[in-house]
Order: sequence, then C-alpha cells, then structure tokens
Amino acid sequence: MHASSITDQSATILGIESSCDETALAIIKGNQNNTPLILAENMFSQIESHAPYGGVVPEIAARAHAEKIPLLLNDIIVKANINLSDIDAICATSEPGLIGGVLVGLMVAKGLCVAHNKPLIAVNHLEGHALSPRITQNVEFPYLLLLASGGHCQILIVYGVGHYELLGTTIDDSAGEAFDKVAKMLGIGFPGGPAVEQYAQSGDPKAFKLPRPLTNIETPNFSFSGLKTAVLRVIEKHQEHNQTINKHDLCASFQAAISDCFINRMKIAMTLFKQKTNLYHGRCVVAGGVAANMFIRSKLEILCQHQNFDFFAPPLKYCTDNGVMIAYAGLQRFLKGDRSPLDYKAKARSPLGV
Ligand code: KG4
Ligand code: ZN
Repeated sequence: MHASSITDQSATILGIESSCDETALAIIKGNQNNTPLILAENMFSQIESHAPYGGVVPEIAARAHAEKIPLLLNDIIVKANINLSDIDAICATSEPGLIGGVLVGLMVAKGLCVAHNKPLIAVNHLEGHALSPRITQNVEFPYLLLLASGGHCQILIVYGVGHYELLGTTIDDSAGEAFDKVAKMLGIGFPGGPAVEQYAQSGDPKAFKLPRPLTNIETPNFSFSGLKTAVLRVIEKHQEHNQTINKHDLCASFQAAISDCFINRMKIAMTLFKQKTNLYHGRCVVAGGVAANMFIRSKLEILCQHQNFDFFAPPLKYCTDNGVMIAYAGLQRFLKGDRSPLDYKAKARSPLGV
C-alpha cells in the first residue's frame, strides 16, 4: 500500500518535463488546500545546443534529455533529502511535444514506476501550463486563461482540473513562434521572446505600422503568420534600399502588435467568460512562455482593471517550461484518483478543451 492512501493531500510527487528544449525535474509535496511545498527542482536548458540552428532540433533535444534526466534526478533526490521509495507517484509529460523528448521522459517515469512499484501519472504539458498560476497563488476556479507558449496560443475557461473549455485558438502560428521567427529574421538571438522584449525596451512601438490580424472577428481566435510576413517585408524593403533598420523600433512595434491582438481577443473572451460563468467579477490568467513578457503582462493587467477581472500570472520561472508545473498538475490528477497504465502512449499533439 502506498503512503498516499493514508495522507493523500500531502502526497509527494516527482515530475519530469522533456517535451521541448528544457530538461526539468521537480519533487513537490501537497499541502492541504494551500499551494504545494517545493522540495527540490532543477532544470537543464539546452539553449546553447540549439542556438546555432536558430530553433530547437528534435534529435538533439531527445539525446540531451536522455543524457541529463538521470543526473538531474540524482540531484533533486539529494536536495529533497528523500528516497525514491518516499515518492507517492511519478509524473511525466506525455503530450503534446517533440515526440523523441516526450518518449525519453515518459520512459524514465515508467521505468521508475516499475522499479519502485509506484503509480504513473501521464501529464498533458498544456494542463501543466494551465494550472501553473496555482503553484504559488490560490487562484480560484473558474478562470479565463490565455495560454501563450512556443507551441500553442489558446484562450480557455479553466473550470477545474481536467475541465477546460476552448474559446479561441490560433489558426496558424503561435505567438511564441512569431517572437522566435522575428528574432531570427533580425539575427538577435534564440529563444526569440526574451531577445525581442529586450530590444523593444528602448524602441518606439509606433515606428512601424504592422497589422493586427483577426481583430475584427467576433470569435476570439488568433493569426500571427501575416504579422510575421509583414515584419519580413519591412526588413526586405530596408535591404532593397540599403537602409539600416532600427531593430529596437521594429521589435517594439512587433511586440505592440502581438499585445494589441491579445488585448482585443481577450476583451471578447472576457464577455464570453462572464456569460458562461455568470460571474460579474472574473479572474484572468496568462501562462506559458510568452507570459514571461513584462510588456504583455502589464497590458493585460490594465485590461483586467477595466473589465473587472483579477489578474494573475505565474512567477517568471514557471511561465516557461519547468518540472514543478508537471509535478503540480500530476499532484492534482493524483488527488482526483487518476492513474495511467504502463503502456500509456506518448502523443505529439493533444489539445486541451476540445
Ligand atoms: O512555454 P514554453 O517554455 O514552451 C512551450 O511550451 O512551447 O514557451 C516558449 C516560448 C518561446 O517561443 C519563447 O520565445 C517564448 O516562449 N518566450 C517569450 C518570452 N520568454 C519566452 N516570448 C515573449 N517574451 C518573453 N519574455
Ligand atoms: Zn510549454
């Protein structure tokens, strides 16, 4: 019998994240109805290996996860000062993501489950992001969520663990992808989001006129490929005329365009949220890698004030991929009684709320 059956609320959970270019592990402990105790966490970022290619190379990512997970696991067990036998459940990202990396993390989790007779919990990476504000704050359900990462851009209502309603999604690129591509076009670094944000700080957001795609449409969907192409045109035009482009101004203009799209779409989503939940005073969360952008956070916070919503965002280190969010989502699944079979299949795609 697992210790968990006696004190479920205080279960100790191991989480493994390997769906993209961060190898991240964490051990957390449930804490009644409060935020969890984080016993140990660590992360190895593969950025240096992928930077020369200007994007994540799946094969390199999978090999790096296979190399690093055992080392990180040893390290957090020491830091948390526990044995693997003290852990109540082992969780790993099982979907969506780059399949090689996901398979590596999930296989490690399965092996540990067999070796130590522990339950497996397969975690949807997007659920990890969706619940991430609750790692450090008591954000009550339901809340409106803007999930903006490298792979996804969605607006959802989070009614509870495992209960999501999709209100809108991107019809082409994600916002994070657009940030990364614009940074690549300008040659300012990888990953693109932080580089663009840094350049934008000293730029004029009105310097370049860029489109705000889909902002006249009632459904709160997004489209960013046209915006990306518009940035490319600006760069090409400058090259044709042998003019030096002001990268700071272009980054600021691009970031403002993304932010305007978010604000416009979220305003519509807020009306839908109020209609669907009958709440006059709402709660709004931004999560995922793009939520680390302080300009975007501040604009969303202002929108929330105007629309009578409380605004929440995870701490910066839990916006981008991390092991704690996988352990936390796994803990919530564990407390609901969910367990995954040992032949659970990793998936490259697995949307929330559909
Ligand atoms: O959530 P995440 O770590 O990975 C996925 O699940 O995709 O998100 C990574 C994405 C990248 O596209 C990265 O450029 C973007 O988040 N990002 C940012 C910032 N920090 C990371 N985008 C805008 N501003 C930032 N400060
Ligand atoms: Zn992510």
